[in-house]
Amino acid sequence: MYTAAVLTVSDRSARGERPDEAGPLVVSLLETAGYRVVETALVPDEQPDIEAALIRLAGRAALVVTTGGTGFSPRDVTPEATLAVCERLTPGIPEAMRAASLTITPRAMLSRAAAGIRGGTLIVNLPGSPKAARENLEAVLPTLEHGLKMLLGGPSDCASTIS
Ligand code: MTE
Repeated sequence: MYTAAVLTVSDRSARGERPDEAGPLVVSLLETAGYRVVETALVPDEQPDIEAALIRLAGRAALVVTTGGTGFSPRDVTPEATLAVCERLTPGIPEAMRAASLTITPRAMLSRAAAGIRGGTLIVNLPGSPKAARENLEAVLPTLEHGLKMLLGGPSDCASTIS
């Protein structure tokens, strides 16, 4: 069982103007998949706040999933914060999320979500709407465990496993 943390990035939720629906949904999807969610956090769309939260959560969990702030609005800076705190990028994860999502909506191409590795933690961005967050996470969740196994020193032979 791997540890996970969930970071919601939303100005409106941080101001208390809109309940955070995507964060709790992501927690529930991760727990159903067998992760132990050790912390959740909510920050406004401010790059320094997002970076500080990512650094803190990456120190606590093997997987950090963010929701929100991946679109084109000038305030959408979650990918930039993610790239700033990651040491290695994992572009295949957002590529897979967008490929799967494009079969659902052409608007999937508007997600600028990123993913990468900071130390022993994988950070993955999701869009902000509960529907989009669910669709994107479900596209990659079954495969993330194999990546975490490699990251955290498990078997490195990819050919020895099927999925
Ligand atoms: N991906 C899926 N699977 N389903 C969706 O409805 N919405 C898109 C995209 N990815 C969507 C999706 C839209 S409309 C946007 S603007 C981007 O995600 C970014 O969303 P965000 O700004 O809430 O992070």
